[in-house]
Amino acid sequence: MSDVASSPPPVSVLGLGSLGSALARALLTAGQPTTVWNRTAGRADDLVTIGASQAPTAAAAIAATEIVVIAVADEAAVRGVLGSAAGELAGRVLVNLTSGTPEQARSLAEWATAQGAAYLDGAAMSGVRLVGRADALFLYSGSAEAFTAVEGTVSAFGSAAHLGADAGIASLYDTALLGVNMSLLTGFYHALALVGSAGVDAREFAVVATGYLPFALGLLADHARQTVQGQYPPDEGTLDVLASAVDHLVTTSARAGVRTDVPDGIRALVQRGIDEGHGEHGPASLVEVLG
Ligand SMILES: NC(=O)c1ccc[n+]([C@@H]2O[C@H](COP(=O)([O-])OP(=O)(O)OC[C@H]3O[C@@H](n4cnc5c(N)ncnc54)[C@H](OP(=O)(O)O)[C@@H]3O)[C@@H](O)[C@H]2O)c1
Repeated sequence: MSDVASSPPPVSVLGLGSLGSALARALLTAGQPTTVWNRTAGRADDLVTIGASQAPTAAAAIAATEIVVIAVADEAAVRGVLGSAAGELAGRVLVNLTSGTPEQARSLAEWATAQGAAYLDGAAMSGVRLVGRADALFLYSGSAEAFTAVEGTVSAFGSAAHLGADAGIASLYDTALLGVNMSLLTGFYHALALVGSAGVDAREFAVVATGYLPFALGLLADHARQTVQGQYPPDEGTLDVLASAVDHLVTTSARAGVRTDVPDGIRALVQRGIDEGHGEHGPASLVEVLG
């Protein structure tokens, strides 16, 4: 006899591009009964081979399950797909992993709620390669009840964090973390060009840089606390000292024939901090200049 109470709830996935296909595959791997739909039907073939049910329309996919995950190109596509099936949304928990702005997320949450659905906005933070592994990070915001209802299901995608009831917050974190990631990577690319000018092998440099990064990561919690307290002890040096160090980075790069766009931007920001009276403060005081 099957144990209905502990059976995993069936899930529908709308949109089978790179992300949606990976999500559906992770659900199937976790043993979740999964219905899939995609505008171009042929993209479901591989998933059907490994056990997915293919729905002929988005409305049929939504009607088939209480939990509906959508990952399509953008907000306009989400509205197009869900708008064509609005009559089926009542009682559903909608998990939208399509990228968008906080305003779009809040507006979709309002619209979905008006259709009788519970809405969770989500951000897939780790690309597609890690989907289905515990080290893939997924951020969610919106209805706390909806998150509780789907937490067991979406844990098939990776680790799941709920950031609060405001549907726009996951998207805001997504955007902020993109800035962190791109700042780190552009700094790394600049460093590769600089050490490359002396013939250093990029792979060898990457090993040393990876060993160095835990030091920088170790500063995040403390510097966040400093910004909350509005106190910036110069434990890692003052902005005046940092300005000299960045000048050194700019001149060393220029002499090596490496473009200085990346350190120039940092130098300008540090100068603004000094001009606004933070020369004797630690680097986290730059948040005051930015805010
Ligand atoms: N891939 C990633 O690593 C990643 C990571 C984080 C977030 N995201 C976000 O996830 C979303 C999907 O990304 P993706 O990489 O899966 O994109 P993708 O591979 O380009 O696939 C796009 C999907 O959207 C569908 N679509 C586009 N316009 C549509 C419309 N008007 N009506 C119905 N369906 C439509 C496509 O259907 P057809 O097959 O019929 O064209 C396809 O299923 C995006 O918002 C992206 O920013 C992606």
